[in-house]
Amino acid sequence: MNISFANAYSPAKLVAVPVFKKAKGRNVDTLVDDAGAKMLDAANIDGTSGRMTFLPAGERIVLAMGAGKREKFDAEIFSANVIKALRTSGNASVAIKLDGLDLGDHHVARAAVGARLAGYRFDKHRTKIKPSQKITLTELTILCDDPDGATEHYNTHDGPIADGVLLARDLVNEPPNVIYPSNYAKRIEGLDGGLEIEILDEAKMTKLGMNALLGVGVGSERESQLVIMRWNGGEKGDAPALLVGKGVTFDTGGISLKPGANMWDMKGDMGGSAAVVGTMYALAKRNAKANVIGVVGLVENMPDGRAQLPGDIVTSMSGQTIEVQNTDAEGRLVLADALFYAIKRFKPDAVVDLATLTGAIIVTLGSHNAGLFTPSDELAKELEAASKTSGERIWRLPLDPFYDKMLDSPNADMKNIGGREAGSITAAQFLKRFVGDAKWAHLDIAGTGMKNKRSDPRETTFGTGFGVRLLNAWVAENYES
Ligand code: BES
Ligand code: ZN
Ligand code: ZN
Repeated sequence: MNISFANAYSPAKLVAVPVFKKAKGRNVDTLVDDAGAKMLDAANIDGTSGRMTFLPAGERIVLAMGAGKREKFDAEIFSANVIKALRTSGNASVAIKLDGLDLGDHHVARAAVGARLAGYRFDKHRTKIKPSQKITLTELTILCDDPDGATEHYNTHDGPIADGVLLARDLVNEPPNVIYPSNYAKRIEGLDGGLEIEILDEAKMTKLGMNALLGVGVGSERESQLVIMRWNGGEKGDAPALLVGKGVTFDTGGISLKPGANMWDMKGDMGGSAAVVGTMYALAKRNAKANVIGVVGLVENMPDGRAQLPGDIVTSMSGQTIEVQNTDAEGRLVLADALFYAIKRFKPDAVVDLATLTGAIIVTLGSHNAGLFTPSDELAKELEAASKTSGERIWRLPLDPFYDKMLDSPNADMKNIGGREAGSITAAQFLKRFVGDAKWAHLDIAGTGMKNKRSDPRETTFGTGFGVRLLNAWVAENYES
């Protein structure tokens, strides 16, 4: 979609205007005259977000779109609703009228983000799309009071963030025969924006003793990879923020094989890594003034004659031994080595990991909140603040020695599962054993990173890109001032 900001009407015949709640029949737009106001009344368009109707207005057509309460107007949601309504409507262009609303550049730029998120589809593997499903909308003009300011803000801030979110979505949506560890690593290496990339192959990881990560990949024909992305936009010598992501490009469960139904969703088991890659890309593209390092562990979890067996004991890079009682609890094995390695090497100021780690988090929080686990109240506060600014929701759950005990094994230093109860918490406790005293938080995004049911107009595909906006806000608010 081609997006521009302007303060005069474009050739677009179609103009979307917000209708606010409690302003029944009184629109902010002068295109809607008294007759139009009466029609809004007749159509019951009372400002409820997403409700809409078309009105004739001389040469043009007005899309009167419910926009909620005036005081709480969210230009991003509003424009997402407009794009959702119009993207396959047959119309090629639309103008969204946001001038006269005193919004400021940031909010106007976010309207463009909402449009891009709502306009996103993943069609690259479809050769037959019904005409009625074809995306027809290609031109968006956002009418605003200060087009230059909004353009500048969008180009340097919100646009790159949207680029990162859409990249993360692409990565999650790709099938497992198209993205697997080695070509995923190459794809990261090929990103524009000036990230420094380093790839560790199996030989290097073997030398480092990363047997927990490597064990997950031994049943796969595809070579495991660890990718390090560096963005040095801050002061030289400032300790970096570290982001670590689970990148299981497909999770069959391994020998502890998953049931067949819905197994295809496990192509999204690299959602944590996609969030990290998307964030790093966004930071580079907006030239963030911070030192940030992203690390992703990329593996495919397969059953095979040589695959890891339940009962296997592996020695992690940290030296701690792990009894692998369930080969489907593989994400924590990948993260154990990725976290230990990255913390030891980069001595970060703080570290956040993201992973589609447990089905249990979906039972606990649904797909509306990611689970946040951290022993640090300070980091929890920072992430909760970033959650507010970004709109990506998180909910803190407890860590406690009581749960940690559930991982004790008579055969090794720990086992990789904690039993039926509190599955997301024991998974987080497991990770905690590999982070030393680093300021660390874990986000379980199994419910938020991939979704088959969606209601938010900005979420258009299975891969949501969750985490990119949250992490970007966290970096901006804590490392760029
Ligand atoms: N990738 C899954 C978690 C998952 C499940 C994500 C469903 C999204 C939707 C993870 O590797 C896994 O299989 N976890 C197990 C852990 C169990 C064996 C302790 C789970 O959640 O069942
Ligand atoms: Zn698994
Ligand atoms: Zn998994």
